[in-house]
Amino acid sequence: MSSLACPRCKSALPEGAAACTSCAQAWPRVGEWADFRGGRPLGPAAAVNLWPLTAWGYEAWRARALSLLSGRPFPLGEELCLMRERLEPVGGGVFLDLGTATGLYARALLRAGAARVYALDLSPAMLRAARRRARGLEGFVPLLARAEALPLRAASLDGVAVGGSWNEFARPEAVALEVARVLRPGGRLWLVFTHRSASPLQRAFGRAGLRFPRLEDLLALLAPLGFALEGWREGSAGFVAGTKLPAGE
Ligand SMILES: C[S@@+](CC[C@H](N)C(=O)[O-])C[C@H]1O[C@@H](n2cnc3c(N)ncnc32)[C@H](O)[C@@H]1O
Repeated sequence: MSSLACPRCKSALPEGAAACTSCAQAWPRVGEWADFRGGRPLGPAAAVNLWPLTAWGYEAWRARALSLLSGRPFPLGEELCLMRERLEPVGGGVFLDLGTATGLYARALLRAGAARVYALDLSPAMLRAARRRARGLEGFVPLLARAEALPLRAASLDGVAVGGSWNEFARPEAVALEVARVLRPGGRLWLVFTHRSASPLQRAFGRAGLRFPRLEDLLALLAPLGFALEGWREGSAGFVAGTKLPAGE
């Protein structure tokens, strides 16, 4: 069953719909995808992800990202293994790869047996690259949308994975509310982010629209939304793993 919902009124949407029959909102198309993004302008850092060249080179950089941030050899295989462990059980589940870029996490989840992964990004170039790389993997569903207004039904997901995208979200408080909304009770969260440091590079990226939270800020944002959480860091690499608690706990 589809987990899609209108990002405005949150009524259920059939897969492939380009208009909501409940609130009459219609979305333009970009290629074969409904464009759920809405018209808000993008900051310079987010806009770079719209370039096909960024999508083309992205996974070469991504393979080295956690080694650079943590200051020790941190192979991609280790990160994917941690992600799968924290999102267990993966087999048969429905997941969201939030800010999927070229679909690295989405592919890893599908290969681990996930039934369906919504691979969401605001960049058509990234989603095209993700779809190419996921060719042959059943259950891969690209979504052109914003993390701040997810086109997904409440409590419809078994897990949400956020690999490095949190630093780019323009309104992290809105994203946190959306993640809490779409996860079912008992659903799992995996989040990797670049932790705040005194680096001049972070100040420069900050001016371009990136945000570098501290672990304690992220935990303080998520915990009141009904998560049991564990967080840690290695150098500038930050990690949060959590479970959505049943209402009232
Ligand atoms: C650093 S990449 C992370 C990619 C991926 N999660 C990974 O682990 O490799 C960040 C991605 O998030 C996307 N992004 C940034 N802000 C977004 C937003 N508000 N909504 C949806 N996607 C967003 C960007 O287009 C980009 O592809």
